[in-house]
Amino acid sequence: MASLRVGIVGCGKIAGNHARALQQIPGVEVVGCSDLDLDRARVFAARYGLANAVRTVDELIALGIDACTVCTPHPVHEQVVITAAEAGVHVLCEKPIAVDVAAADRMIEAADRADITFGVLFQRRFWPAARRIRNAIDDGTLGTPTLGEVSVILHRPSEYYATDAWRGQWDTDGGGVLMTQAVHQIDMLQWFMGEAVSVSGHIRTHTHGAHIETEDSASAVVTFTSGATATITATTGANYNLGNRVTVIGGTGAIASVLEFPEGREGVNEIWTVPGQLALGTAFSIDVHANLDVADVNAGLADFHTLQVQDFADAVLTGREPAVTGRDARASLAIVAGIYESSRTGRVVDLQATAHSAMKVNR
Ligand SMILES: NC(=O)c1ccc[n+]([C@@H]2O[C@H](COP(=O)([O-])OP(=O)(O)OC[C@H]3O[C@@H](n4cnc5c(N)ncnc54)[C@H](O)[C@@H]3O)[C@@H](O)[C@H]2O)c1
Repeated sequence: MASLRVGIVGCGKIAGNHARALQQIPGVEVVGCSDLDLDRARVFAARYGLANAVRTVDELIALGIDACTVCTPHPVHEQVVITAAEAGVHVLCEKPIAVDVAAADRMIEAADRADITFGVLFQRRFWPAARRIRNAIDDGTLGTPTLGEVSVILHRPSEYYATDAWRGQWDTDGGGVLMTQAVHQIDMLQWFMGEAVSVSGHIRTHTHGAHIETEDSASAVVTFTSGATATITATTGANYNLGNRVTVIGGTGAIASVLEFPEGREGVNEIWTVPGQLALGTAFSIDVHANLDVADVNAGLADFHTLQVQDFADAVLTGREPAVTGRDARASLAIVAGIYESSRTGRVVDLQATAHSAMKVNR
């Protein structure tokens, strides 16, 4: 593989997955990292043997990088991605792409203008179980999906929100369980079901109101251009972490699901009812330690971060599109933003009407 000089922006909890992934790719050199908290950048650089630790993305760019990965809080993604794109630096940004659709549009436009590779990290798409469903839709085994179901039933202790003051605030986090956790499963849902056309839903704060102003619970219905519909149930307020599940029923009537239990461990096809291939299992067990802390959840995802980071490096070097583009990531954000809008107005939100306009998340 040709050589690629890469920097990491934001040295918090998820950045380690990026450093480990990048350092496994032949020909990739991790030149340095940046964090507004310079001490944190220095500790991170020492841990991963990086030669440079700087504060800002501009200083990182000045080191002569070809690409960067972005691990800052969501509302900061836009500024970092646009700065990198305008400097001609390829970008792989953590999910969600941004916290409002207008910002996502500005990021996509900046990447297009600069003709850089712009990918967004949704590593669960690299699970074999998720790919098996996507392939079974493509080859007709499942048929066109008619009905979908997203279930995100998570436990977060109050310290999760209390420790990082930026979490669960509209200005600094852009949303709650939908924006931060369920966006992964919403991405997978729309990857399976196709383009969403409308959404209605409700958000509530039932459990973590002492620490957050955004939602810890949500229910929604999404419709797709195919006429298919899907429901979304999401919470971080459960006392027991049941993980995540995405289920689709195809036009053949066959049902397929991806279950992630415990959270952060590779998803499995828990339900697969294609004729001749019937498989029904349950990964749930009280012997499994389910209420993992976030570091354990992130550690479980590391191998799939590696696959997506490898895909991105290959996309940069070969000039092809990455597995998840900025436009793909805009689609899941539009559903999340649409649920917020619907909850605020009590109306069904037409996602097509906002497809090319600057829709702000309404609170
Ligand atoms: N793909 C996944 O499974 C996954 C898992 C966890 C987090 N994430 C995403 O990663 C991002 C970061 O999450 P985290 O939990 O690591 O957050 P974190 O708070 O632990 O770390 C964020 C870091 O970014 C730094 N920062 C803020 N603004 C900056 C700027 N302008 N330039 C440089 N550094 C800046 C902060 O000082 C902090 O050290 C979020 O968008 C989150 O959604 C993705």
